[in-house]
Amino acid sequence: MTDASLALRAELIDRLTASGVVRDPAWEQAARAVPREAFLRDGYFSAIHQPGAPTQYQPVQPGDAAWLPGAYRDESLVTQLDGNTTAAGTSGPIQGAPTSSSTLPSLVLRMLEDLHVEEDMRVLEIGTGTGYSTALLSERLGDGNVVSIEVDKRVSIRAGNALTSLGYHPELVVGDGLLGHKESEPYDRVIATCQVTDVPQNWIDQTKPGGIILATVGGWLHSSELARLTVISEREARGHLLTGNVSFMLARPQSPPPFGLLPDLDAGDERTTPIGADLLGDWTARFVMQLAAPAIQRLDLPRHGRTEHVLLDVETGAWAAAYIARERWVVRQGGPYEVWDRIEEQIARWQASGSPDLSAFQISVMDGVQSVTWSE
Ligand SMILES: C[S@@+](CC[C@H](N)C(=O)[O-])C[C@H]1O[C@@H](n2cnc3c(N)ncnc32)[C@H](O)[C@@H]1O
Repeated sequence: MTDASLALRAELIDRLTASGVVRDPAWEQAARAVPREAFLRDGYFSAIHQPGAPTQYQPVQPGDAAWLPGAYRDESLVTQLDGNTTAAGTSGPIQGAPTSSSTLPSLVLRMLEDLHVEEDMRVLEIGTGTGYSTALLSERLGDGNVVSIEVDKRVSIRAGNALTSLGYHPELVVGDGLLGHKESEPYDRVIATCQVTDVPQNWIDQTKPGGIILATVGGWLHSSELARLTVISEREARGHLLTGNVSFMLARPQSPPPFGLLPDLDAGDERTTPIGADLLGDWTARFVMQLAAPAIQRLDLPRHGRTEHVLLDVETGAWAAAYIARERWVVRQGGPYEVWDRIEEQIARWQASGSPDLSAFQISVMDGVQSVTWSE
C-alpha cells in the first residue's frame, strides 16, 4: 500500500465517521484496513453525463493519475458494462448498461451498520461484485463466517483474486443469489447488494429464527428502498423499509422484460383522472404505483403533439396512457386488467393516510408471498 493510498483512505473514513455514517468502531477499523483500490485492478468506468445524450463511460485504468483518487471518492464505480465489457482493454468513452460495480463506500458501510452484526455471526452476501464489501465482512467477522454469491463467473473470479491478494478467503459461490446457498446454511444475517422485486423465501428458509435480512426492494418503475426483515420462523419474515431512497442494480433474473411490440394505444375510452402522471416524478408515489401493478414499465412517448406517459405490462399486454388534454389529466387504458384503476385506488388510499414516506412502510414475507403495507 502506498502512502497516497493510506492518506486517501484515512481521509475518506474520517469523513464517513465524522458524518455519522460509520458509528461502530469495529466497522471503522475494518474500513481503515481494507484498500478499495485492490478491488479495482481491472479499472473502472467514470460516467460522463450530458443533458439529452446517453451516458458515456470513460475507462480509468490503474496506470492513470485519476485511478487512485477515484477509488477513494464516495462514488459508485461501474466495473462492467453489458455483462462483459471491463475498463481493461477499453480505450475511448463507450456506451452501455452497467452490470457490475463497486458500490459507494458510504452506502456499503451504512448497510453493514444496518445489518446489526455481532461477533462470530455467519453472513450470506448476495452480489459479490468487486469483493470490496465481502472483504469488509471478512475483516470484521472472519472470512470463515462469510459466504458471498455472484451470478457472473468472471466477476466472481476477479473478486476472488483481489480477496486472496489481501489474505481473505471467504466462500465464494457462482450462481443465482436468489436461491441462497443451502450448502452452508444456517446464516445469522443475509445482505443483498443487488436489488430484488421480492425477498426470496430461500433466504428466509436459510436464516436462523431471529436473524436479519437486509435488501433493497423495488420494481420496474425504478423506485426502491432498503428493507430490514427479521426472520420469525422458517415460513415468515417481517420488517420495515428504512430511509435514503436506496437503489441497486436489479438481480439479473428479475430484470424487466424488453418492451417488444406496443399495443394499440389509441384503443380504449378516454376519461379524466384525479391523479396526474406527474406523480411518477415522486419517489414514494412511484413505489406505491409499483405495489398496485408490479409488472408495469414506463415509456414516455411523443404522440398526437403531446407527451403520453405509457405504463405497460409487457407480459399480459395491460396498458394505460396518461396525458394532459384540454388542461386536465386524462387516461386511456386497455388489455386484460385496468392498470390505471388499480393505481388510482392505491394512490387514493396512500393519500388518505397522509401520503406517508417509505420509512412508514412495513414488509412481510409469508410462504413466499411478499406484502408491503403502510400504517393508515
Ligand atoms: C452493485 S454490485 C455489488 C457491489 C459489491 N457488493 C461491491 O462492494 O463491489 C451488484 C452485483 O450483483 C450481481 N448480481 C446480479 N444479480 C445477481 C444474482 N441473482 N445473484 C448474485 N449476484 C447477482 C451483479 O453481477 C453485480 O456484480
